[in-house]
Amino acid sequence: MNFKVELIDLRSRYKEERKNILKILDKTLNKGNLILTPELEKLEKKIALYTGSRYCLGLNSGTDALMMSLWACNIKKGDEVITSALSFVASAGSIAHLGAIPIFADVKDDLNIDPDKIEQLITKKTKAIMPVHWTGRMCDMDRIVKIAKKHKLIIIEDAAQGMGSFYKGRHAGRFSKVAAFSAHPLKNLNGLGDSGFITTDDKKIYDKVKLYRNHGLAGRDNVKIFGVNSRMDVINAEIINFRLKKLKAVIKKRKRNISFYKKYLKTNKVQIIPDKKYEKNSYVMFITICENRDNLKKYLENHKIQSLIYYGNPLHKHKASKYLPKRVRLTVSEQLASKVLALPHHQGLNETDIQFVCKMINKFYEK
Ligand SMILES: Cc1ncc(COP(=O)(O)O)c(C=O)c1O
Repeated sequence: MNFKVELIDLRSRYKEERKNILKILDKTLNKGNLILTPELEKLEKKIALYTGSRYCLGLNSGTDALMMSLWACNIKKGDEVITSALSFVASAGSIAHLGAIPIFADVKDDLNIDPDKIEQLITKKTKAIMPVHWTGRMCDMDRIVKIAKKHKLIIIEDAAQGMGSFYKGRHAGRFSKVAAFSAHPLKNLNGLGDSGFITTDDKKIYDKVKLYRNHGLAGRDNVKIFGVNSRMDVINAEIINFRLKKLKAVIKKRKRNISFYKKYLKTNKVQIIPDKKYEKNSYVMFITICENRDNLKKYLENHKIQSLIYYGNPLHKHKASKYLPKRVRLTVSEQLASKVLALPHHQGLNETDIQFVCKMINKFYEK
């Protein structure tokens, strides 16, 4: 369908950056060296600096970053890792992939893991907590850190959506042993395709992941362990490096979108989750909580406005999760999953676009 207002618009970003991107591609390809070059190291240093971490490692994806973070923390078969029931599948998938068991905790009305629901899930097998900073909003990290300390658990942050997000002045990733970030095209800091990275202060974790991402090769002819191939390629590293300089501006524009939504939405049937004073949301997605969500979505589509359900099924409801232990009811996650709707939100939107979206939403609820 040809939408008048799209949910996401990567083409307009390309239009804006075309000259720079083509220049970077030309420069990088002309060098003729595309894997594990100093350009990647340069980016890793810059991301470490930006996030306030000691180390960063560029990888193939946020999913790999999660998997390698868990692996580097010695999460093994049978270990339990507590994570949010409302997330992208990779949060649970990365845990399951190592043979460990994702244990889902319910969320709060801000869509993030509810710290009050974590302790009841802790057993002798629990090794870690994986909070997910969903939509770029930070989890309640003070509470989660306290629980982890009390029970001697590791924290691994799923900061896939957390680049540019802060909690009490500290960047996402600063509350855990290791954090996994995604630079998927839909993230605020993005590559041309799949890519991701980890941040950590722990030299042992850094060394382990560095070895693992490159086949376990300690030298050209020296395989220390069997690893994988998950190196961020240099084209993505150069593009992300270029885009890192624009990250603040990108988040500013996205914040402006939300302020227009707040200004023009005149119905209490669509809830915009408020930001807390101490958090700096990076607004990767704009997920609202709507009454009569499915009909609103249809109505918007009829008026050529794109929206998307992110996600209609909490993680424990999927077929893949059937074998997992069911410890508690995840009532809030289930309720919210039936109401969440992502509204158009990208850097190319202007006030008139958002005014139009809001006008149609207001009209729908007036009926
Ligand atoms: C919360 C969350 N975790 C993990 C991932 C996985 O990242 P990637 O797509 O880079 O593998 C994503 C990506 O959308 C995500 O949103």
